[in-house]
Amino acid sequence: MFKNLMVLWLILSFADCKPRQPPQNSGIDALPQSRAILGPAKPWTALLIDPKRVNESIFERRRAAWETVERALTRVDIVNPKTGRPFVDANTGQTLTLPLWQTWYEANEFRTMMFQLWSQLTPAQRIARESSAPLVDEVMNNHHLNTLLKKWTRPGPSGETKFEKLLAEITADKELAALNGVSGSGYTLFSPAMIRHYLLHYGDVFACTGTPPEFSTGNPTKDLATCLGDAFPPGAVAVKTTWSNANEKVGVFNTTARGLANVLSMEKPTWRTEDSTNLTTHSPSEIYTSSTFENEKLSKTFVLTGLHFLTKDIPEWMWISLWWSPDSDTDFGEDRPTSISTLGPKNALAVWSHYKMCVASTFDEQDLTTINNNHAVTTAALLASTDSSLKAALASSYHFSAPHTFCSNPFLEFGEGLANTNCIGCHQHSGPINSGAKVDAGRKRVRTSFMTDFTWSFDSPMESFRSSIKDVVTQ
Ligand code: HEC
Repeated sequence: MFKNLMVLWLILSFADCKPRQPPQNSGIDALPQSRAILGPAKPWTALLIDPKRVNESIFERRRAAWETVERALTRVDIVNPKTGRPFVDANTGQTLTLPLWQTWYEANEFRTMMFQLWSQLTPAQRIARESSAPLVDEVMNNHHLNTLLKKWTRPGPSGETKFEKLLAEITADKELAALNGVSGSGYTLFSPAMIRHYLLHYGDVFACTGTPPEFSTGNPTKDLATCLGDAFPPGAVAVKTTWSNANEKVGVFNTTARGLANVLSMEKPTWRTEDSTNLTTHSPSEIYTSSTFENEKLSKTFVLTGLHFLTKDIPEWMWISLWWSPDSDTDFGEDRPTSISTLGPKNALAVWSHYKMCVASTFDEQDLTTINNNHAVTTAALLASTDSSLKAALASSYHFSAPHTFCSNPFLEFGEGLANTNCIGCHQHSGPINSGAKVDAGRKRVRTSFMTDFTWSFDSPMESFRSSIKDVVTQ
């Protein structure tokens, strides 16, 4: 039912530009008891970024974006709740680890936390739709203790519980990643600061009337989020991922100056050109690979083809996107810091060096001349270009984009017309479903204020914080 609604919504939203590829979603939910193992999600400390500096220089912007990627991929260890010590490899004794972002929360975990908060608020607080910071922190700290279902802790015929069997399965990095990495309905993960903001501001979310936000609160920060009481704090991050079956080939997209010119010169730019229908095989050392658990058994394996990092390090967020590529050291991978190539799991240390990256930080960045001084360009020259450098690729993207800002992930922005986007142009329309919020590929700023601080998860059929709040408050 949920999936059908989602499909219907996507079709309606893209009425004039139907997506031709379905989202590559594994359809497998993380186990509820995964959280009992992962513990509370690890916090994200925001980078201090000067918006002017990143808006005015693509090179500053990319440097800050790679630093963010590096920090999100940094590996953390996880304490085994049975032993009280980090999980280790039984053969080598080495500590098992997973990337920081894979400890974060799915939207459906928020529903449980909202329920816990509501049940501890006083009747007066409920009537006033008030929250309480100490209670929110307590609920978040204890959430992992509330996820272990009884049937998992009942001893089986062998005397062992299902939960103990699951713990015994975790003998390598890939099994830790399997706890949360690939999931069905919640394939976006949210940092603790983002979840905390919703728990603190549930009253504003509940009261949101669903009218378009063409008014000002008089406060530029609050104007970013008229349905949330206030904008998300620094530390808020959303990570959207897309995965393919590990036994299938994945797409190859040409993002050099020529490749981009081919795509972006189309009337409705789409990544489904001749270049992009090339498919290639891959090995686990070249593409981030994760299994899933079904019950306590390891199940299907998936490969990560693309991921978005949305970080509230600046008021309009950093819009960072990574996509897999077999020739990842050219164009959008040329400036990748070498440190990224040490952040993979132990059997695939350099796996993240197979991803390219684009970033946008506002509607219209001010650095066009920096790029074009070095690259006087014409469409004909770009279509014939053999230059695979980053500068040439940027010059090509700028030639075809106005306002001059570009970031599009070939594995995620697959609909017609969506290859030439800047993320924020579409996300500015986000709001409650009944507010007339509609997916729009335009890139210009067309609003004076925003309802949900650019986040679609506020109320999309994929994940809706608003409906979790409504369900709990009106139960
Ligand atoms: C044409 C519209 C459109 C464009 C362009 C677009 N997105 Fe989105 N995005 C959506 C919609 C709709 C959702 C919610 C449904 C889903 O998750 O697929 C979403 C969800 C997300 C989420 C999950 C969190 C949230 O609440 O929104 C992130 C993160 C994200 N997008 C990042 C990006 C980045 C980075 C780019 C640019 C590379 C981008 N998006 C381009 C429409 C768009």
